[in-house]
Amino acid sequence: MPDVNELDITEHSMTGDASARVIETLQDRLVSLIDLHLTLKHVHWNVVGMNFIAIHEMLDPQVDTVRAQTDAVAERIAILGGEPKGTPGAVVELRRWNDYELDRAPSVQHLAALDDVYSGVIADHRSAIKEVGDLDPITQDLLIGHTGDLELLQWFIRAHLMDATGDVVHRTLTTSRETPAVAPVTPSTTKCAVEAREPSFPPV
Ligand SMILES: [Fe+2]
Repeated sequence: MPDVNELDITEHSMTGDASARVIETLQDRLVSLIDLHLTLKHVHWNVVGMNFIAIHEMLDPQVDTVRAQTDAVAERIAILGGEPKGTPGAVVELRRWNDYELDRAPSVQHLAALDDVYSGVIADHRSAIKEVGDLDPITQDLLIGHTGDLELLQWFIRAHLMDATGDVVHRTLTTSRETPAVAPVTPSTTKCAVEAREPSFPPV
């Protein structure tokens, strides 16, 4: 029977510095995903107007998917020897963007704002995929899988905003994850196909 105090439980081949860098990246992604699933639930409660039930019921499975991603990312941090931080205070302290601004609002405004939120999360995930690529392919594989799922969920959102040509309509101004504000939709400004913030992924 081995002495548990003498066991070397470091089973991966990463250096301490590499692990620390991967953990830091994963912690940032964990905060982003916690923020995202809470925001999706917030919209589930506050969306009103046409297509209410479609949007309301579409969002709960998205909450479940993103929440499962937070679990996988947090446990990867723990596997690498880190301490995943998931308290409300940690999320507020560590996040790099403003809080979602809309409360009760029409579905088109929430959808446009959520589209922008997803663009920010996905862009940051893609950056994280590059950062960890040379350090930990297992973490990279995890983030690649999550990013594919997030892009699918964003398409569910964005498809509501598209016309038959594939242009994104009903966007009255461009928004960013750092300033997720959406202006009221008016008939004269209901079409804006291009986002000022260039997404780092192919348009869906
Ligand atoms: Fe509900």
